[in-house]
Amino acid sequence: MNLNELRARIANKTAKLAVIGQGYVGLPVAALFAGQGFDVLGVDIKPGLAEKINAGINPIEGFEPGLAELLKEGISSGRLRATADYKELADRDVFIVAVETPVDDNHIPRYNALRAALTSLASVMKHGALVIIESTIAPRTMNDLVLPLLEKQSGKKVNEGFYLGNCPERVMPGKLLNNLRKMSRVVGGMTPETSEMMIALYKNFVEADLDPADCITAELVKTVENAYRDVQIAFANEVALVAEAAGGDVWKVRELVNKSPQRQMHLPGAGVGGHCIPKDPWLLVHGAEERGVHLRLIPAARSVNDSMPLHMVKLLEDALAKVGRSILDARIAVLGYSYLEDSDDTRNSPTRSLVARLYELGAEPVIHDPWITEYNGDVYEKVKGCDAAMVMVAHSAYKELDLEKLKSALRSPVLVDGRRVFVNNQGDDSAWRYSLLGKMG
Ligand SMILES: NC(=O)c1ccc[n+]([C@@H]2O[C@H](COP(=O)([O-])OP(=O)(O)OC[C@H]3O[C@@H](n4cnc5c(N)ncnc54)[C@H](O)[C@@H]3O)[C@@H](O)[C@H]2O)c1
Repeated sequence: MNLNELRARIANKTAKLAVIGQGYVGLPVAALFAGQGFDVLGVDIKPGLAEKINAGINPIEGFEPGLAELLKEGISSGRLRATADYKELADRDVFIVAVETPVDDNHIPRYNALRAALTSLASVMKHGALVIIESTIAPRTMNDLVLPLLEKQSGKKVNEGFYLGNCPERVMPGKLLNNLRKMSRVVGGMTPETSEMMIALYKNFVEADLDPADCITAELVKTVENAYRDVQIAFANEVALVAEAAGGDVWKVRELVNKSPQRQMHLPGAGVGGHCIPKDPWLLVHGAEERGVHLRLIPAARSVNDSMPLHMVKLLEDALAKVGRSILDARIAVLGYSYLEDSDDTRNSPTRSLVARLYELGAEPVIHDPWITEYNGDVYEKVKGCDAAMVMVAHSAYKELDLEKLKSALRSPVLVDGRRVFVNNQGDDSAWRYSLLGKMG
């Protein structure tokens, strides 16, 4: 298959697609292409996942409008199927790779999943196939890792035996399909012709700009946009600390600051989690030191955001002290374990650090989360007999809590709010020891 044949197959939707990795990114991408009439094979090595998808069951449990229906439709039409077996991929024209790309404890990218996926696909890749990396990767990874690995494992040369590009994602849990359809994308190709071909493919469901670029630009844009967000959140978090110490209210300050032109101060909060924001800044800075660039701001922002769950513990200790209670042996109701409101995604959850700290201090955390099977159930039952409640995630269910009922269930009326969930509720009722992040208690 040459470039023109591949272009024609993409244009008339006879190109056969494989989407490798069927997680938060890969599954909706596969379902969307199938919905557009392409023959799509979803590939995942997680035990039981392919079977679940083939049974038409959506494995993502958070609130994802339209995904379950689109998946079911793809499976029943026969255009979408899942497998764990790479041998089934020999007839595929396009490979889209969406496997996880975490960093380790030393903030170094761990590309085990990416390497394994590329090695497996290279062994079955037909002549003239297009490989697109959607996973988020550090700048230069396409040139320094993906390309040489594919060439070595397949014995084919890029732009002759296969085509290669990087098209990063802008999805977030809760808005997967919406963002895939409505957000613009940077379409990085190893050549301008490859970018053009990728644009023709993604045009099938992307209703926004598809901006052609080279791979390094695509890698930089993706990691920069998440590092930017992390730095902005860290700024808001530092202002929250300043406001608390100065006797102010960061939420009011933010509202008024944002009336000044070109100020868009972010929201402070109890921590930053998820698969992407806590690690993409590390992907961006990866390799900079070896290239002679010493970076300070981005690592500092990471450290500020990582410290917020510990700050929540400090607020808790202060609030408990005001009712004459120490944290030692206290039972603490922790509301919210996912990293994001109304999501089941617990990756890099700030609550995990909070809970670890509570244990270290001799407290007994009692976790509730309406979206996580392990922790769901009646919230009032969970908090019964606890010495305090802490809100770590702004789940909709928490905004509707009956605070009178909550107060009667708790042993003492201590409420620490890391997300300003109770602003329009009775949270600052004087009977409560209500402590809001960023506001002097
Ligand atoms: N989740 C998001 O909101 C989001 C947003 C933008 C970008 N991204 C990026 O997209 C990529 C994927 O993220 P995700 O959230 O979908 O991750 P995920 O963990 O939900 O999904 C990855 C899937 O890949 C599978 N996998 C791992 N190795 C494999 C292999 N060798 N062959 C086949 N399957 C394999 C895993 O079993 C898993 O199901 C990451 O690089 C991430 O940074 C994610």
